[in-house]
Amino acid sequence: MLCFQTSIYPPEYEGHLDSLMIKRDTILARVRALASMIHQDYEGRRPVMVCILKGACPFYQHLLDALMDFRQGFLTEFLRVSSYEGTSTTGKVKFSGVFNMEDLKGRDVILVEDIIDTGTTLSEVIPILREQCPSIKSIEICSLLSKRLPNPAKIEAKYVGFSIPNHFIIGYGLDYNELYRDLKDIWVISKAGIEFDSGTL
Ligand code: IMP
Ligand code: MG
Repeated sequence: MLCFQTSIYPPEYEGHLDSLMIKRDTILARVRALASMIHQDYEGRRPVMVCILKGACPFYQHLLDALMDFRQGFLTEFLRVSSYEGTSTTGKVKFSGVFNMEDLKGRDVILVEDIIDTGTTLSEVIPILREQCPSIKSIEICSLLSKRLPNPAKIEAKYVGFSIPNHFIIGYGLDYNELYRDLKDIWVISKAGIEFDSGTL
């Protein structure tokens, strides 16, 4: 008889994960629910779904997939933004690649983000979009996660997948120094994971 060894993360991550926070099935069910809400609000319209790279990538893919199931029309754009070094925000948002702002003219825009932590990223991105493309019709945020912090984020997302406690989490697109985006589920990183030299993997 064949015996399959089941591991729910790549073996080289052994010891780097503290606890499982959200299982993939739970994530996917919630992503579908978010797509249903978006469909109810945008039926008959074609919003521009803007993926905030890189963290939102798996969420974006599954969200678009669910929107297609609902026969909801959309356009796609990608924006690369970063504000984190290690486990803390630098408070400074870097744009390392931007699409043509003209493409947003007269459009309903939905910014698809992995997580709202301090809210710094989106509170800087939105005014820049509005300034560079004043004729945007509307801007809403769809974030998979939102952290519950003592000082609530300055930014309000219309669509939020999960409200989570304030831990540094990894997986399903979320990284720590570029590692762990390839985990299927969302985990809390361990102390050993934080101390690990990411250059060696
Ligand atoms: P904010 O600007 O403080 O809201 O942070 C937003 C960005 O920081 C997110 O889009 C993530 O890329 C990153 N981030 C914040 N918290 C975490 C975390 O717990 N794990 C991984 N990345 C995070
Ligand atoms: Mg992000």
